[in-house]
Amino acid sequence: MSYDAQFRVWRGDSETGELRDFTVPVNEGEVVLDIIHRLQATQAPDLAVRWNCKAGKCGSCSAEVNGRPRLLCMTRMSTFTPEDVVTVTPLRAFPVIRDLVTDVSYNYEKAREIPSFTPPADLKPGEYRMQQVDIARSQEFRKCIECFLCQNTCHVVRDHDENKESFAGPRYLMRIAELEMHPLDVADRRDEAQEQHGLGYCNITKCCTEVCPEHIKITDNALIPMKERVADRKYDPIVWLGNKLFRR
Ligand code: SF4
Ligand code: F3S
Ligand code: FES
Repeated sequence: MSYDAQFRVWRGDSETGELRDFTVPVNEGEVVLDIIHRLQATQAPDLAVRWNCKAGKCGSCSAEVNGRPRLLCMTRMSTFTPEDVVTVTPLRAFPVIRDLVTDVSYNYEKAREIPSFTPPADLKPGEYRMQQVDIARSQEFRKCIECFLCQNTCHVVRDHDENKESFAGPRYLMRIAELEMHPLDVADRRDEAQEQHGLGYCNITKCCTEVCPEHIKITDNALIPMKERVADRKYDPIVWLGNKLFRR
C-alpha cells in the first residue's frame, strides 16, 4: 500500500534551526531512511543525514524519531499509521553540525581515554590462549556497532553537558568492563572505572539497554558486574587497610 505521509524534519545548523513540514510518498516495506532519501531526491536536496550500510550494522544513521533514539534504517514505516506525523530530529545529547548530522566526537574522546588491552608482559603475539567459556560474556560487548544511541539516551549526559567531562557513558563503561573481564588483560580497571570514568554516576536506569539495536544487555551484563567488582574492592578489608596505610 502506498500513501502520502506527513513528515516533520529538523533543519538547521549549530546556531539556529526549526522543524519543517513535508508531505512525502511512502511505499510498502520502506524504512524512515528511505523517506529521508526521497525527501533529498525530490524536495530538500541539501538535507544532511549520515548513513552508510542501510542494514543496521554501521551505526551511522542514528537520530530521533518521534523523540525516541533510533537507527533510521531499521525503523519501519509500518510502525506508524498513515495519519501519524513522523518527526525526525538529530540526536539530542550531541551538538548539531547540520540538519540530522551531529558532532559525536565526545564518544571518540572517551574511547581514547581508556587504556588499551594489556596482556602479560612476557606473552608474545601468537602465544595468547583462551577458552571460549572465559570470553563468552565479553564477546557480547563486541557486537557494539558504535551507533551511540545508548550514549545519547543516558540521562547523566542527555540534558547535562557538564557531566560529559567526568562520565564516559554506557558504551565506554562497557568497554572497560569488557577489558576487566578479559582473561588475558592484567590491568586493574576498577579504580579507573570509578574515579576517572564516572561509573558511580550510573544509577542503573537501564535506558541505555532499552535503545541498543544490538540488544546488548549493557546494564545487567557490563555495568552492574563492574559496580560489583568496584564494591568488592572498596569493601575488601585488606584493600581498605592498605588504602588507609599507604594512600594518605
Ligand atoms: Fe549502540 Fe548498543 Fe553499542 Fe550503545 S552499546 S553504541 S546502543 S550498539
Ligand atoms: Fe545511564 Fe544506562 Fe546507567 S542509561 S544511568 S548508563 S544504566
Ligand atoms: Fe548503517 Fe543505519 S545506515 S546502521
